[in-house]
Order: sequence, then structure tokens, then C-alpha cells
Amino acid sequence: MLNELDLDQINLCMEPPGEEPARQYYFMAKCREWVKDFEKKNGRPPSAFIQTFGCQMNAKDSEKLTGILEAAGYRTADSEEADFVLYNTCTVRDNANQRVYGRLGVLNGLKRKNPSMKIALCGCMMQETAAIEKIKTSYRFVDLIFGTHNIYKFAELLYAALEDHGMIIDIWENTDQIVEKLPAKRKFPFKSGVNIMFGCNNFCSYCIVPYVRGRERSRSPKDIIREAEALAADGVVEIMLLGQNVNSYGKNLDEPMSFAGLLKEIEKIEGIKRIRFMTSHPKDLSDELIEVMKHSKKICRHLHLPLQSGSTKILTAMNRKYTKEQYLALAEKIRKEIPDISITTDIIVGFPGETPEDVDHTIDVVKQVEYDNAFTFIYSKRTGTPAAAMENQVPEDVVKEGFDRLLDTVQKTAKKRAAMLQGKTMEALVEEKNEQDPTLMTGRLSNNILVHFKGDDTLLGKLVTVRLEECHGFYYIGTMVEGKN
Ligand code: SAH
Ligand code: SF4
Ligand code: F3S
Repeated sequence: MLNELDLDQINLCMEPPGEEPARQYYFMAKCREWVKDFEKKNGRPPSAFIQTFGCQMNAKDSEKLTGILEAAGYRTADSEEADFVLYNTCTVRDNANQRVYGRLGVLNGLKRKNPSMKIALCGCMMQETAAIEKIKTSYRFVDLIFGTHNIYKFAELLYAALEDHGMIIDIWENTDQIVEKLPAKRKFPFKSGVNIMFGCNNFCSYCIVPYVRGRERSRSPKDIIREAEALAADGVVEIMLLGQNVNSYGKNLDEPMSFAGLLKEIEKIEGIKRIRFMTSHPKDLSDELIEVMKHSKKICRHLHLPLQSGSTKILTAMNRKYTKEQYLALAEKIRKEIPDISITTDIIVGFPGETPEDVDHTIDVVKQVEYDNAFTFIYSKRTGTPAAAMENQVPEDVVKEGFDRLLDTVQKTAKKRAAMLQGKTMEALVEEKNEQDPTLMTGRLSNNILVHFKGDDTLLGKLVTVRLEECHGFYYIGTMVEGKN
């Protein structure tokens, strides 16, 4: 791990080193010089605010960016009234983009009040040429823009932005590089995401992710295990392994390793008590994985298995590479082998060519699988994807009708599944104080359901046993029966 001493020993009179991560340590030290100077002039350290707009992988990137800012000496601010504001963007659906533009308008006002404020944008949306063009013309006050492939260079880019007064744009088309050993600042002391792979090779026809995150690259098992061990030593009890399709982990490694094989290694790490992962593509989910999950004491009883559509016709057009029947057979096998597992999913309504009959098939799958929860999305046209060029786009009112019907079924099955836990006593990881009622703490069950119960801050990060008393649809009110560590 990086500490202050390492940075202080760097000779800043020398040219920056060529190799990584040494080069970034050098620029962190350079930024720290700048920060010290700022402190002298202003009587306080500069503040920084990072907003994450996207998925867990985006959130993990934000933790790395925060780690670099803290190594440079910035203090974390809890609002945009800060000296440095960074938006880590998402572009998976158009509303994610619109949120960024809306917030940028507000930032412009803040920057007028504090002209020395620096504004930076990074993340998936920045990999799109159209977004960059729009920012260059309509949002001239942005100081720094970088993408998903060169995020490891953040210290170097930050230093350039601090020294420079124009708009700096550094976007790479792709990369095969994975830079290890950069700092990160966890949002929760007791749980953490761990990247196991980057990018995606699946090219589902509606999805922009492969274009903005590049090709699939797996981290070496050695690096993943080293990180998980370091996290465990630092008090982390739950880790979530992150990748767009964790089931294809390891295929491009010099010594290939399966995802199930990786899980077995991580299970051995003392101190790690819970293991989660996101996301599983149904086409690659192996019997080996089901077997490993079934016998594991640590892998949580939760599987997120995106369906996208229950109609084979639409699934084919989506390039998902499974049929309705194959998906159903897989879900049945999982439920049979691991009866206490919760299965959640993602569904898109309104993909080009989708008819009400296709939505009927999706609803049928929801009824048969009985999802514990489902995220339902209205199809969003992403420029550059094959689906965007399809002619048979669905009218808005038809989409809305299908969406409402689906949501109704999803909510009914989710409620029914949650109600089945009534009266049970289960283990929960205490994650936070309840926002509405500070006498309550919020814990997460292995199956991802939340439970609120009377308790105090001392329980944070602890595994406790809770009796589930009142089911409120998607969460429970319960009573702590015993605390343990
Ligand atoms: N890699 C993950 C998904 C990442 S994106 C997987 O394959 O499961 C998260 C979810 O966003 C997807 O599962 C999909 O349901 C949704 N999504 C992706 N592109 C979309 C689009 N163009 N319109 C609407 N929803 C979309
Ligand atoms: Fe997108 Fe499909 Fe890749 Fe998931 S698997 S990120 S939906 S292309
Ligand atoms: Fe969004 Fe990028 Fe994640 S597009 S969903 S932040 S990979």
C-alpha cells in the first residue's frame, strides 16, 4: 500500500519515470507539492468532490480516483462546492447522459463564484465522440476530460490540469494495459469491490459498454488474491468480484483459470467472510460454478442473472446467445441445486421489433423463475450499436404499456419471495445507520435483502443474527438475536 513516506522519497528534480506505476507516484508527489502551496496561501487544504453516475465498476473506479486525490493531499468534500469536482460518467442509457449535462449547468454557476475551481469529467460517456464534441462547444468551463482506458494516469492528468488553464482532453481508443498497485479509498471500511476483469466481448446489440470499455481483459489471479488478502488484513469482511461477465473470467490469461477456480482460491482467504460477484452472463454460467457455490460457506446466496428478454426472437436479435428455454432450464437447475438462493435480473422493454406477445414471454419467465428482484429498463437507443440502426423501433405508448405490465408481475413475485423469509433467523452484515430512523441499523442478508433493526454504530461492519419479523415487500424489520464478528 502507498503511504506518505513513499511519496516524500521521490526526487522531483528528476524527469518523471517512464514505467508505471512509478510514473503516477511521481505525479502524486508533484500534486502534493501543489497542494502544500495551496495550503500555505489559503490556510486550508483543497477539497475534492467525486460523483459516480454508473455501475459498480464505475463506483470502484471512483474509489481509485479518490485514493489518488487523497494521496495528493485533497480533503473529501460532501458537495460540489469544492476546489476540484470530478464526474465519473455512465452512458448505458440516455438518461445517464442527461443527468450529467443537467449537473454541469449547475457547476457552471458554482465556478463563476469560485473561478479557481477545477472541473473534470471521466468515465464511459467520455469515450463517445459526440459527447466530447458537445462539451467542447457548450461546456467550455470544463478543465479536464479523460476516458476509461487511461484512468490510471489520473495523477499525471490532474497535475497537468492544475498547471494549465485550457481544456485538457485525453481519450484513448483502447488499451491492453492493467496498471496495478495504485491507491484506492474505500467507501465502506468493511466491504469492497475487487475488479477481476475489464471490458466486454459480448456485443449485445443494444449495449454501448463494449465500445466504451474495450475488449475483455482478466486480471491475474495473483494480483486479485493479493488485493483480497490486503483488504482482509485491513478489516474487509465482504468482497464483491466485479466484471461485465465474470463467467468468462480467465479465458485470455497465459495460464487460463475459470471463474469457479478463482472463487475457490478466494474462499481460502482468512478474514473474508462473504463473497459476492457481478455480473453473470447466462450463456457462460458453468455447472462448475453452481457446484462451487453450492458447497461454499462464503459465497453469498445471491445470483444476478440478467434475462433482458423472455422472447427467443428478441434474445436472438439482442445477440444474447441463449433461448427462453435454455434460460429457464438454467434457472431451474440453480434453484434445485441451491434452494435458498435468491435470483435477480435485468430486463429491457421496448427493444426494436418487440411486440406485446414478446413481453408476454418475458412475463412468463418472470412468473416461472420468481425473481427475488428485477431491474426493469426502457430500451434506450445508443448510437453506434447495431440495435440503433434497426428500423422497427417500438412506439413509446406500446413500450409504456409493456413496461407497466412487466413491473406489476415483477413486484408481485418479488413480494412473494421476500414474504417466504418471515419469522426466519438469518445472518446480516451491518452496513449503515438507517437514514430515516437513527435508532435503527441496516444490515444485508446473504441473499441481498435488507433488514432494519434496533442497534447502534458499534455494530457497523459486524455480522449479526437477526430475526426477520415484518416483511415490507423488499425489506424486513427485525430484531437482533445475537451479535458476532
Ligand atoms: N454486463 C452486464 C450488464 C451491464 S449494463 C450484463 O450483461 O448483465 C446493465 C444493464 O443495463 C443491462 O443488463 C441491461 O439490462 C441494461 N442496458 C444495457 N444497455 C441498455 C440500453 N441500450 N437500453 C436499456 N437498458 C440497457
Ligand atoms: Fe453489455 Fe452484453 Fe457486455 Fe453486458 S454482456 S456489458 S449487456 S454487451
Ligand atoms: Fe455505465 Fe460504463 Fe457501467 S456505461 S453501466 S458506467 S460500464
